[in-house]
Amino acid sequence: MAEAMKGLKRTHRCTELSVANIGETVTVMGWVQKSRNKGGIIFVDLRDRSGLLQIILEEESCGAENFAKGERLRSEFVIAVTGIVSNRAGAVNEHLETGAIEIKADGLRILSEAETPPFPIEAGSRTKEELRLKYRFLDLRRPDLQSNIILRSAIATSMRAFLAAEGFLEIETPILNKSTPEGARDYLVPSRVHPGSFYALPQSPQLFKQLLMCSGYDRYFQIARCFRDEDLRADRQPEFTQVDMELSFVDVDDVIDINERLLKAVCQSAIGLDITLPLPRMTWIEAMDRFGSDKPDTRFEMELTDVSETVRGCGFVVFSGALDNGGSVRGINAKGQAEMPRKKIDALVDFAKGYGAKGLAYLCIMPDGSYKSSFAKFMTEEEMDRLVKAMKGEAGDLLLFAADKTALVWSVLGALRLELAGQMGLIDSSRFNFLWITEFPLLDYNEEEGRFVAVHHPFTMPMEEDLPLLYAADSLDSVDSDLGKVRAKAYDIVLNGTELGGGSVRIFQSDIQEKMFSILGMSKEEAYDRFGFLLDAFKYGVPPHAGLAYGLDRLVMLLVKAESIREVIAFPKVKDASCLMSNAPDRVDPKQLAELQIQLVETKVKEAGQE
Ligand code: AMO
Ligand code: AMP
Repeated sequence: MAEAMKGLKRTHRCTELSVANIGETVTVMGWVQKSRNKGGIIFVDLRDRSGLLQIILEEESCGAENFAKGERLRSEFVIAVTGIVSNRAGAVNEHLETGAIEIKADGLRILSEAETPPFPIEAGSRTKEELRLKYRFLDLRRPDLQSNIILRSAIATSMRAFLAAEGFLEIETPILNKSTPEGARDYLVPSRVHPGSFYALPQSPQLFKQLLMCSGYDRYFQIARCFRDEDLRADRQPEFTQVDMELSFVDVDDVIDINERLLKAVCQSAIGLDITLPLPRMTWIEAMDRFGSDKPDTRFEMELTDVSETVRGCGFVVFSGALDNGGSVRGINAKGQAEMPRKKIDALVDFAKGYGAKGLAYLCIMPDGSYKSSFAKFMTEEEMDRLVKAMKGEAGDLLLFAADKTALVWSVLGALRLELAGQMGLIDSSRFNFLWITEFPLLDYNEEEGRFVAVHHPFTMPMEEDLPLLYAADSLDSVDSDLGKVRAKAYDIVLNGTELGGGSVRIFQSDIQEKMFSILGMSKEEAYDRFGFLLDAFKYGVPPHAGLAYGLDRLVMLLVKAESIREVIAFPKVKDASCLMSNAPDRVDPKQLAELQIQLVETKVKEAGQE
């Protein structure tokens, strides 16, 4: 029978006690980690969110009734213990924070009993993630997950404190609203009162934070929940948390300065990491050229080399053909990997194909200086030597080349670089390499849609120097137009190869905004229909403004060195956006659908083999 709390008050968490408390009578409460009955004396490891504490129940001193209760204790029972803090009679446990003390119990209450949990509550669990997620409430008791969640709270608190001290106001924005474009699909919520109409859950508070600048609040922040219906990965969830901010009367450098100081404060307080300011910056084009990625992991080298000019006119049609089509040929040098078995090289070729490459050309510089290569037969010896020289190839190196449209070459080699670094153990996981990426392209040509789309979102300001290119554009839908060259006042903050956050200076001039909408193929009517309230606000006095948003989940994930953001979110979803614990999303009562005037259409499942 569970006993009540009546008359009991917890005095300490487990690890709040130390040798300084010896002799005091205390009351602690928590879960039984383990209980061992040694005949006449019972040892209990008590666990709460702070850690473990040893309790001992001695038949002679704690009384027969308490001892009998002690004999019933099993793992995960919830108990309250009153007793005297004592020196450990036996050996001190060096591995335990409270290893020098124990509580000699004189009172014990069993607050609740527990069934045997489906997996052990312990650090470094080897239980399958599906099972852990189904019983997330138990998983969350494990010390490693608990320390992530506790650190997450500390990080959020430290960001809030920093921003408040810098004069930012914390303002909430609506969850039920119209679509905010951030490039993903919206989650929609049907309206009962307006049948056939839907709210969209925010992909970010973007439009509202810009409105707050129009309203004069000048520095806003919010720890905001955002929703995006997109393919999930280790660093993506359908709902996630942004630390979102917007500032008035600022330019790029002001936003970067505040955020560098914010990151320094957070790293210091959360993990005692001292980062040196200013953080390095790199333009987008440099990042792509050197690393094949707009979020380069700079903890190791293996940079890309453009060998287009070296191989122009060579006999290997894969190379010359790509160049004739306006593409490029680039390579990476995997140092010391020349003797990689053929099977492993083939796996790299398949890996590259997974990123859309037609192939991957390789050249092994054997220890004796001879070449083993997939394309030697198409090139002269002199051409091969020139290529090796351009790649700074030495005996023992493996050179890998991709030839195609430059964007594809970048993404293939960028991914290959990371894959190889992992295989070769080049990544020093003790490093925290922050990096700003600036001068992103404003627009990107979308082949499928046959038009330019915003790289960031439609409110991002072009760089002043590139405005003439924007205004000169007449063939707005041509991939060859100079629109692709327009750079944006947009910036991302990258940590160890992951995009932590991003933002931009916003367009605040209505003529530029209108031009932007027209380039994105949006008529004036359509733009008004979607964002009329923002465009209207701009008519009544709008300050120049800029902002940035961090993915809080990603920041915590990287600071605690977790493999996935699921390890730093209390109740995450899995790859197909479902929750294994609650079974969401789920069917709803037909009555609810009727109220919403929603009728389900049966989707016909195609039978296998049928078109
Ligand atoms: P952006 O779309 O770059 O910018 O998002 C900002 C940051 O949010 C995080 N993030 C995610 N984290 C987890 N799961 C996801 N599905 C997910 N999507 C994004 C990333 C990203 O860097 N309104 C703009 C910001 C601005 O311009 O001020 C915005 O949302 O860490
Ligand atoms: P093939 O003539 O198709 O057998 O290709 C010769 C070599 O070039 C093989 O190693 C292919 O993997 C490689 N290759 C093919 N297409 C490309 C490409 N677009 N970029 C780089 N290497 C390629």
